[in-house]
Amino acid sequence: MPRTLIEPFRIKSVEPIRMTTRAERERLLEAARLNVFKLRAEDVLIDWLTDSGTGAMSSRQWGAIMEGDESYAGARSFYRLESVIQDITGMKYFVPTHQGRAAERVLFSAVCRSGQLVPNNCHFDTTRANLEFLGVEAQDLVIAEGLQPALIHPFKGNIDLARLEAVLQTQADRVPFGMLTVTNNTGGGQPVSMANIRACAALLKQYGKPLIMDVCRFCENAMFIKMREPGYENTSIKAIAQEMFSYADGATMSAKKDGMVNIGGFIVLRSDEWMDAVRNLEILTEGFPTYGGLAGRDLEALAVGLLEGMDEDYLRYRLRTAEYLGERLQAAGIGFMQPTGGHAVYMDARTVLPEMPVAHYPGWALCNALYLEGGIRGVEIGSVMFGKRLDSGVETYHSMELVRLAFPRRMYTQSHFDYAAEVIADVKQHAAAIRGVRLVKQPRYLRHFTCECAWV
Ligand code: F0G
Repeated sequence: MPRTLIEPFRIKSVEPIRMTTRAERERLLEAARLNVFKLRAEDVLIDWLTDSGTGAMSSRQWGAIMEGDESYAGARSFYRLESVIQDITGMKYFVPTHQGRAAERVLFSAVCRSGQLVPNNCHFDTTRANLEFLGVEAQDLVIAEGLQPALIHPFKGNIDLARLEAVLQTQADRVPFGMLTVTNNTGGGQPVSMANIRACAALLKQYGKPLIMDVCRFCENAMFIKMREPGYENTSIKAIAQEMFSYADGATMSAKKDGMVNIGGFIVLRSDEWMDAVRNLEILTEGFPTYGGLAGRDLEALAVGLLEGMDEDYLRYRLRTAEYLGERLQAAGIGFMQPTGGHAVYMDARTVLPEMPVAHYPGWALCNALYLEGGIRGVEIGSVMFGKRLDSGVETYHSMELVRLAFPRRMYTQSHFDYAAEVIADVKQHAAAIRGVRLVKQPRYLRHFTCECAWV
């Protein structure tokens, strides 16, 4: 058997990427105030800022786009997508939204009240923000193993059932529902096991609480279950996904991930209990419930994309890609969140820049170095993202300095990954020359998107 796991597709339409010189990139990064979010995408060679909405659609999906029914109400495209989603999720009610955070906003606004508490393995930023905006406390209860970057564990996304039970025992009256994020993006794209989903749902049920899953990456999670959880070796991805959904009472999804489309999202619910409130809010901000802020053609592309996202050859290649980059980083002596997750590799900047003071933002510095050295764009998950300048002028810092390299689906080939591995190894070799930054201008919230920096 050949050892190489190839991309299970061939390329029908290409998009050129622009080579730049180091001198050019130095100028471009300076003009972007040392913030890669401010770069023009065409000045980036390998764009690993996010896996969200950035992937390549298939020829089938582009074909389906021409089938889009753009009727305002009751479009054929809605019913086609509804039947695909009902088949996978087993849930009766499906409400499209323009993306994941809109699904969160509509559902939470319909169901939650100020002063409540929602437990989750880890809330994604927008999930937390949408809850907190309503005055709801968002609690992260991932297992302790999930917080140790170097530790190997097959399901680091699992929720800590003992801590969940303690919350339910003491504060059940505050809990409208429990959540699970699959895979756990904030915790490194780590999967949740079927046993954990089952037990979490059963525990919530004891207290009469529904389970809502954030299922952006349910296909990748299902593939991890197939590869790592005894008893699922011979189960199809679709059957695994169906079992995962069978334990939930509802879900929100950003279809920009495992839906294999560039825009879209949805809510599914098993019972009609919340549906009147959800529909009313949907109409207020997203649109009529059979299009929900999307074009009919978007619904068609998603109906095809959800099936392609569950393709086993694709998923095997997808998870192997992240693992492969992890192996190359390990060989270069660079630390990262172990084991590699589904959609991204989270590098530990402290293993490249152990001497750099945290006040010089080593995660941010590494991110800039990857761009300067090889035109690669990742995202800092460290003290620029999670630190703060307090009103007193005092700076607070994050416990970790990570750089996330997130991979668009079906877009980059193995040679792109080989190139990136070489760039990263070079950056590590010349780490002594990497300069830290100071923040010269920053907004009060979400400062990483727009802050301006200078070299220290
Ligand atoms: N939930 C999770 C787990 C996510 O990763 C995201 C988005 C959302 C919800 C929100 O979905 O962007 O469609 O509104 N994650 C992207 C990322 C932005 O880069 O990880 P959205």
